[in-house]
Amino acid sequence: MTEKITIAVVGSGYVGLVASVCFAEIGHQVICVDNDEAKISSLRDGEVPIYEEYLPELLARHRNKSIEFTTDLHAATRRSQAIFVAVGTPQSQTGSADLSYVDAVASEIARSITEYKVIVEKSTVPVYTNEWISRVIERNGVPRDLFDVTSNPEFLREGTAVVDFLHADRIVIGVENERAATLLRAIYEPLTSGRYYQTVDAVPGVRSSVDPPPILQTSTKAAELIKHASNAFLAMKISFINVVSNVCEAAGADVEEVSRGVGADARIGPKFLKAGIGYGGSCFPKDVAAFRYVAEQLGVDFGLLREVEKINAEQKRRFFQKVRSALWTFRGKKLAVLGLAFKGGTDDIRESPAIDLIGQFLMEGCIVSAYDPAAIERTKQVLPPSGTLSYAKDAYEAAGEADALLILTDWQEFVELDLDRLRYTLRYPIVIDGRNLFDRVIMAQHGFTYLSVGRAGGV
Ligand code: UGA
Repeated sequence: MTEKITIAVVGSGYVGLVASVCFAEIGHQVICVDNDEAKISSLRDGEVPIYEEYLPELLARHRNKSIEFTTDLHAATRRSQAIFVAVGTPQSQTGSADLSYVDAVASEIARSITEYKVIVEKSTVPVYTNEWISRVIERNGVPRDLFDVTSNPEFLREGTAVVDFLHADRIVIGVENERAATLLRAIYEPLTSGRYYQTVDAVPGVRSSVDPPPILQTSTKAAELIKHASNAFLAMKISFINVVSNVCEAAGADVEEVSRGVGADARIGPKFLKAGIGYGGSCFPKDVAAFRYVAEQLGVDFGLLREVEKINAEQKRRFFQKVRSALWTFRGKKLAVLGLAFKGGTDDIRESPAIDLIGQFLMEGCIVSAYDPAAIERTKQVLPPSGTLSYAKDAYEAAGEADALLILTDWQEFVELDLDRLRYTLRYPIVIDGRNLFDRVIMAQHGFTYLSVGRAGGV
């Protein structure tokens, strides 16, 4: 049994909030810090600002007990053994990561250090950030033996963040000495020993886990690079299958079959080989650009990543053209759009291909009726309802009298739609599916003209 460790998590965004709640869940005392007073006060009231499975339950379980919320970074630093930095690293104009929040937090932490602390980079940051953080802390007069800067990148996906955190494929700790490594290992011990999974009230998705996650101990620089390289590789895998899907379309083959065959090779693996309308979200677009920039700064031309970005943009353009060629003209046509979030299972619309495409359809004079199980409220903030854009209460309402139905997000709810009801609700039974959710033969049997991605022509 390990001791209860006091941990500060700075930043209550996606990564920070999930990490805070999960550290509490595995038995630690957590102080979650943010400078946004309103956010902290609503978290104190138990309100969860993001749509994420298990997060509300876990917050309710630990709130006022092993998780506290505060704006006082100074006090949080004083009381904690480890300080996880999970603040935003947005994309700057050059494509590089803007590290000004990390810089500001490092100075503030430094001013509160009076005894040994381990500072942990949890945000996705470029290689060498640990050295910068160390320099900032030293400049603020903290002796070198009073702190260590380490890297512990996070690999959680939105929508499955809690389960991903509690049962990761691996836990990477980038450290420069054993003192820091010992503390990080102790923090994750309930997971790596498998002890957490035996507890009766463990999160259902991980309770039955038999293989505890392994710890990979690396240098701090390697850990920073592991995060960027992992995201860039996954983005590359998606772009690769997207180009293959275009070859399939031209050759008259089905990319779903090709993907199955390729992914069955254990060296390649079946995941992230789903062709579609390109990747989105708050991570892949930003991290591919940042990693390319990091490489450039180090004198390495990572042209492959430029190509990944180009393919991703092209995939959206091709989908737009597919819709145009199905409808011939756009002005005055009514489009039913299913899906706004950048992927199913989340209300996040950051860099969502759906939002971009809707903007283009509106510019062409289409009338859009959109539906998403979770992301409508967020979308209204960037695309307010208007004479040409409305939001429906369900898929059938969106489909009413539409000239075509477009599927832009892979929600399970869409797979379960009543196809006959949909068919009779649409003005024309045209479905253009950017996520390949349906079987072509079944769609044909239900009387649809069904166009999808990488599956030769229409039926
Ligand atoms: C991604 C990574 O998967 C996480 O490991 C990482 O921790 C996270 O970024 C991050 O850096 O914070 P996330 O952005 O939540 O997670 O979403 P993904 O499930 O990876 O999907 C990203 C995009 O790729 C979505 O638009 C999705 O629709 C698309 N995608 C994914 C495909 O088009 N095809 C696929 O086969 C898989």
